[in-house]
Amino acid sequence: MTVIESIITMQKEAEALRSAGRRIGFVPTMGYLHEGHLDLIRLARKHADVVVMSIFVNPTQFAAGEDLERYPRNFERDRTLAAEAGCDIIFAPSAGEMYPADDSSWISVEELGSALEGAFRPTHFRGVTTVVGKLFNIVRPHYAVFGQKDAQQAAIIRRMTRDLHFGIDILVAPIRREIDGLAMSSRNTYLSDQERKEALALSRSLRTAETLFAQGERRSHALYRAVEEELTRSETVQVDYIGIVDPDSFLPIEGDVGPRTLIAVAARVGSTRLIDNTILGDEATPS
Ligand code: PAJ
Repeated sequence: MTVIESIITMQKEAEALRSAGRRIGFVPTMGYLHEGHLDLIRLARKHADVVVMSIFVNPTQFAAGEDLERYPRNFERDRTLAAEAGCDIIFAPSAGEMYPADDSSWISVEELGSALEGAFRPTHFRGVTTVVGKLFNIVRPHYAVFGQKDAQQAAIIRRMTRDLHFGIDILVAPIRREIDGLAMSSRNTYLSDQERKEALALSRSLRTAETLFAQGERRSHALYRAVEEELTRSETVQVDYIGIVDPDSFLPIEGDVGPRTLIAVAARVGSTRLIDNTILGDEATPS
């Protein structure tokens, strides 16, 4: 496995691979890898000849006061895990090269980017789409793999890729969970032992909705209340939102939910903000 830090070197490598007829699979990450990230590498491997993973803690997707400075980093560990999972190239650029001093161009996906997460983190998705657009132009992949864990991010990237004609197939991997149900996240490392227990409220609330749905409950407000009740059981958990939405448009579903409905939750456990989601009625995305 090779590590490339320079943008021009990565672009030349991508060009050479493309000229040789190799299919490039790409997994963008911010590092501090866990099994969820490694699943993305494994999925990319199934589709592509060469797998590139980027590790870049992207400053523009963090608002002032968020966790940019304390975001966990461990490059040596990431390098070993990525290689074991089948990654061929790690692309790890510097912030200075990714964002030149007078950088002033943004990619923004309008409606989709302002719902749910976008309402709570108004500048977040603009940072994500801009950096992913830059990375697509550097890595020039045929496939790019994202996680269902960040369902709205995946939907926004899909829309951006279509709207801007990037010509890249977007693949989405299911949420990888700890044995007790907690969705894996680099941010779980912030949780104290007690908070780690309280954090289970998120996955538990989604499982409650899944059970009700399996038993025939279709009323959106009834599902909402069940999720809310489970989430607010503990005082440590502060709910940001519970969204019952169409998984592609992220428009809220009122009345009865249809065969494919996304329930997305965000909550703060102590000072750590966590998100989780499930698609009701979708066998391919078990939680
Ligand atoms: P990061 O949080 O490092 O996540 C990288 C990728 O891993 C994303 O596609 C995310 O959805 C996926 N992922 C994270 N936890 C997962 C889990 N438990 N199961 C499955 N997939 C999981 O998301 C980002 O970085 C950034 O926004 C990025 C796209 C790299 C742009 O900076």
